[in-house]
Amino acid sequence: MRRARNSTRNGPASMTAPKKRTAILISGRGSNMKSLVEAARRPDYPAEIVVVISNRPDAAGIAWAKEQGIPAIAMDHKLYSDRAHFESQLHGILTTSRVDLVCLAGFMRLMTPEFVALWRDRMLNIHPALLPAFKGLDTHARALATGVKFAGCTVHLVRPEMDEGPILGQAAVPVLPGDTEPDLAARVLAAEHQLYPRILELFARGQIAIDGNKTSSPSDVNETWAKFSPQV
Ligand code: GAR
Repeated sequence: MRRARNSTRNGPASMTAPKKRTAILISGRGSNMKSLVEAARRPDYPAEIVVVISNRPDAAGIAWAKEQGIPAIAMDHKLYSDRAHFESQLHGILTTSRVDLVCLAGFMRLMTPEFVALWRDRMLNIHPALLPAFKGLDTHARALATGVKFAGCTVHLVRPEMDEGPILGQAAVPVLPGDTEPDLAARVLAAEHQLYPRILELFARGQIAIDGNKTSSPSDVNETWAKFSPQV
């Protein structure tokens, strides 16, 4: 008997897991958001971007998302009485949009432990350093001043402490002689644009196991990214 078109040994293709409904939170340029949106256009990508939210109304990324036809919402945090008020509105939008996963992509606002708890193990962040080194701001200037030979970026699950949480993936890039801060920032950013979509893909497929602070994936992602060294 011939198998129906698009069917597999395990049943029809229509039985594949639904895409994870994903929100992206930004504060500015939104280049990581673009890389996630572009990756999610692939038919086989396991996440779809259902909403983009910025805490700054002037964020360039919001205009781009709207042009792409993605629901994009500016929530000016200055208009809210406090962090809890802002976050309750934000949580309401995420819930109404039936969001499964939240990706922070240059979202430069600390979250309260209460909000983080609501999205525990469902909220990812990208940081432009090889955590736990260089948490916080000015990562590239500090990396250069310290004289490290490798820099890079980290995608991790969000925990209440800033730039903390189980590490889902990292990409290392070399620090080259004569590098300026913009040189290094551009090299790391190029790595971010490849790492974040790949990690979201693995995570949305349930291919990254979390055990306390440790995570593991059957894929060769770590070996691949350790060698990654884009020319920019
Ligand atoms: C990115 O480099 C991201 O890693 C960083 O902000 C930049 C946003 O750029 N995030 C943090 O520093 C968070 N601690 P983008 O708006 O072009 O994606």
